[in-house]
Amino acid sequence: MATFPTRKVMLKNGTILTIRVPRMQDARSLVEYINQVSTESDNLSFGEGEAPFTEEMEKQYISSLEVDPHKIMAVGEIDNELMAVSDISASSLPRMRYSGELGLSLKKKYWNIGVGQALLEYLIDWAKTDGNLKKINLHVKESNHAGIHLYKKLGFVEEGRVSRGMFIDGKFFDLVCMGLKL
Ligand SMILES: CC(C)(COP(=O)(O)OP(=O)(O)OC[C@H]1O[C@@H](n2cnc3c(N)ncnc32)[C@H](O)[C@@H]1OP(=O)(O)O)[C@@H](O)C(=O)NCCC(=O)NCCS
Repeated sequence: MATFPTRKVMLKNGTILTIRVPRMQDARSLVEYINQVSTESDNLSFGEGEAPFTEEMEKQYISSLEVDPHKIMAVGEIDNELMAVSDISASSLPRMRYSGELGLSLKKKYWNIGVGQALLEYLIDWAKTDGNLKKINLHVKESNHAGIHLYKKLGFVEEGRVSRGMFIDGKFFDLVCMGLKL
């Protein structure tokens, strides 16, 4: 992962969001963050108590980012609170490494004030200058209307669907496949 400059963005409500690469000392906050967002959304791939991440695992992941050219990750902070995480992860296989899978989440109390858009713009700018990535892919739950709206707004197009992509409380949900050519 090459590094990318820290960015400050004024959100719709006037709050200042800081977007930056993660540091080793974020590991504990990342575990607390994951535990919180897992209770706040049914649109993630894990629910309450289902995320198997420890502080040690987060440290190893952050450390791997420093040497892995196929991954980029950015966190969002408001008033020193780590409240958003986004990443793009690509395969290291030569035939597959030009495209990466995007992940994005934030704490519920910050939804709908422009954090998601700011993080996506940061990652897209980074991916464009990085040069390794030529395409960003993502899978979004069919009922995640805010997510689909946001991705379309940033230029992603629907490319297909994965039927029965998610299973929550006895019900299957399709995943919409979306992509952005860089
Ligand atoms: C999806 C998510 C990342 C969006 O982040 P966010 O910071 O709220 O996004 P933004 O505020 O930048 O933009 C949200 C947009 O969706 C719109 N929106 C909100 N609810 C909507 C709905 N029900 N239908 C359509 N659009 C909706 C907002 O009006 C806004 O659009 P606008 O800027 O054109 O007015 C955030 O809600 C989240 O973390 N959800 C839980 C995890 C998740 O779903 N992650 C994505 C997995 S693929």
